Amino acid sequence: MKVALVTGGTGGIGRALCRELAQDGFAVVVHYNSDATQADGLVQELNARGAEAFAVTGDVASETEVEAMFAEIIRRFSRIDVVVNNAGITRDALVLRMKLADWQRVIDVNLTGAFLVSRAAAKAMIKQRSGKIINIASVVGLCGNAGQANYASSKAGLVGLTKSLAKELASRGVTCNAVAPGFIETSMTAVLPEDVRNELLKSIPLRRSGTPEDVAAAVGFLAGPKADYITGQVLSVDGGMNI
Ligand SMILES: NC(=O)c1ccc[n+]([C@@H]2O[C@H](COP(=O)([O-])OP(=O)(O)OC[C@H]3O[C@@H](n4cnc5c(N)ncnc54)[C@H](OP(=O)(O)O)[C@@H]3O)[C@@H](O)[C@H]2O)c1
Repeated sequence: MKVALVTGGTGGIGRALCRELAQDGFAVVVHYNSDATQADGLVQELNARGAEAFAVTGDVASETEVEAMFAEIIRRFSRIDVVVNNAGITRDALVLRMKLADWQRVIDVNLTGAFLVSRAAAKAMIKQRSGKIINIASVVGLCGNAGQANYASSKAGLVGLTKSLAKELASRGVTCNAVAPGFIETSMTAVLPEDVRNELLKSIPLRRSGTPEDVAAAVGFLAGPKADYITGQVLSVDGGMNI
C-alpha cells in the first residue's frame, strides 16, 4: 500500500487533503502540530471509511522533531510515497511594522519546515526510486501582497525549493510540484474583515472563493500516476486570480 503524509493535516485544507488521498487508496499519515483531539478524530473518520491512517506530531520547523517523525513513519510503513508540505502560518503586518520574530517564524514554519520534511522524505524516496513531493504555496508567493511580506516570501521560496528539488531528484524517479491556492475558505481566511473579503472576491475572475476540496482535487491529481511526467510545476488553484 502506498503511504502519504500531509503536514498540518488537521487544518482547513489539510483535512480535505487527507480525505482525498485516503479516497485515492493511500494509507494517510495525518500530521498535526498542537491539536491531538482533531487528529485522532480525523484518523477515526478515515479508518471508518476503510482507509489506513495514523497521526504523528511535531513542529515542522524543528529538525529533531521532523527526523523523529520520519523515523516513526518508516518504522511503521517502511516507505513513504507522497509528502504534502501543507503546514503553514501567517503573522501579517506591513513591512515597516513587522517584527523580526514574526518574519522569522513564518519563514521557519512555511519554508524551512518544507525543506526539513522534504529532505527527510527524499532520503527514503531516493532509496525507493519513486516518490512525489507536493508543496502548498500561494497566489501571494507569485504576486506579492501588502501586509504579508513574510508569508509571500516564504511561499515564493517554496516555488524555488520546488523547482530545485525537481531538478535534484528527477533522475531518481522522484517528482516535486507545487499547488498555489488563491482565497480558500478556512480558519486562516475566516479572520479577514468583511471589506477585505469583498475586495478579494472582486479580484477573482471566477467570482467565488475556493474550497479546501478544490485544492485537494489538484493535489490528488499530482499525487497520482496521471502526473508521473509532471515535475517542477506550480499549479494555481485560484479561480483565475493569478492571470
Ligand atoms: N486558506 C487559504 O486561503 C490559503 C491560500 C493559499 C495558501 N494556503 C496555504 O495552505 C496551507 C493550509 O492552510 P489552511 O488555510 O488550511 O490553514 P490552517 O487551517 O490554519 O491550517 C494550518 C495547519 O498548519 C499546522 N501548523 C502550523 N504551525 C505548524 C508548525 N510549526 N509545525 C507543524 N504544523 C504546523 C497547523 O497545525 P495546528 O493547528 O495543530 O497548529 C494546521 O494544521 C498553508 O500552507 C497555507 O499557507 C492557504
